[in-house]
Amino acid sequence: MDKKVVYSAVQPSGNLTIGNYVGAIRNWLSMQEDYDCFFAIADLHAVTVRHEPAELRRRTAELAALYLACGIDPSRCALYVQSQVSAHAELCWLLNSVAYVGEMSRMTQFKDKSAKHEDNINMGLLDYPVLMAADILLYQTDYVPVGADQKQHVEIARDIAARFNNRYGETFRIPEPLIKKEGAKICSLQEPTKKMSKSDENPNASVLLTDDRDTVLRKFRRAVTDSDGEVRYAPAEKPGVSNLLAIYAAFKGCSPEEAAGEFAGKGYGDLKTAVGETVSDALAPVQAERERLLKEKTYLAGVLAEGAEKAFRAARRTLSKVYRKMGFYRGE
Ligand code: TRP
Repeated sequence: MDKKVVYSAVQPSGNLTIGNYVGAIRNWLSMQEDYDCFFAIADLHAVTVRHEPAELRRRTAELAALYLACGIDPSRCALYVQSQVSAHAELCWLLNSVAYVGEMSRMTQFKDKSAKHEDNINMGLLDYPVLMAADILLYQTDYVPVGADQKQHVEIARDIAARFNNRYGETFRIPEPLIKKEGAKICSLQEPTKKMSKSDENPNASVLLTDDRDTVLRKFRRAVTDSDGEVRYAPAEKPGVSNLLAIYAAFKGCSPEEAAGEFAGKGYGDLKTAVGETVSDALAPVQAERERLLKEKTYLAGVLAEGAEKAFRAARRTLSKVYRKMGFYRGE
């Protein structure tokens, strides 16, 4: 029982893209075998920007169904909804006393989101990284697989853990971020030097995991390339074409250079069609399974309740240790 612990979470906001699939979900699949994994749907984080209650509920179920459809196996990990394990909110409060307003207000994401939602700079937005630290630290996590944009948050979680340990005695394991290599990054189809994002305003920029075949083919057909006409893998010089090759390679399980070899002497049109077909062939079974699961409401709720139960059993140990270390009265 000395498997290393992996923790990660995704917010149920926006639709996941093939970038999330290749960069995050697929990674999680392989980790289920070698680690003790906790995968959460971070719904408490999602309410730090204005949201529609019915939509939050729907998106949470959809994200759970999608994970399961992708092959997350609830018997080999804890797949659960963050708000169903109250330990997260509790530990967040306890950690608030060792987190400083100054450091929180300097977080890049806080500054970006404050600028974007000027009319709603709420306490939750500022506290977001402390809740994330609570998520991670509750499980005595070793590794946190995240995108580069979340690295700063994992670092602040490390600082908070070390500060707490220092003040109250050894309590938390110090987690390490696992950031995917650049090569695995999938970029926008419209601005191929930018990461493909689920919140991009241009619908043609991202391919969603829920896009149907025609949509996928159309988005790839409209992908930005360049004017030299030669299919080559050269990310700096030819970002658009290289991104298409990287996507093709990620779905075929080969390297982008090998993919480029397959298209030697062919035109961009051939490449775009082949990428589109490859991606939509890969998505079709996932989409069908997701649809099926969404209709099995009782099953889905049951899987998540079990996941929450499993997570709670692990979280409870850390939480009671924290209460004890901080001196909360428990009868003696
Ligand atoms: N903030 C993360 C994101 O938006 C989601 C998240 C919440 C998370 N809690 C976490 C990621 C804990 C890793 C570990 O991507």
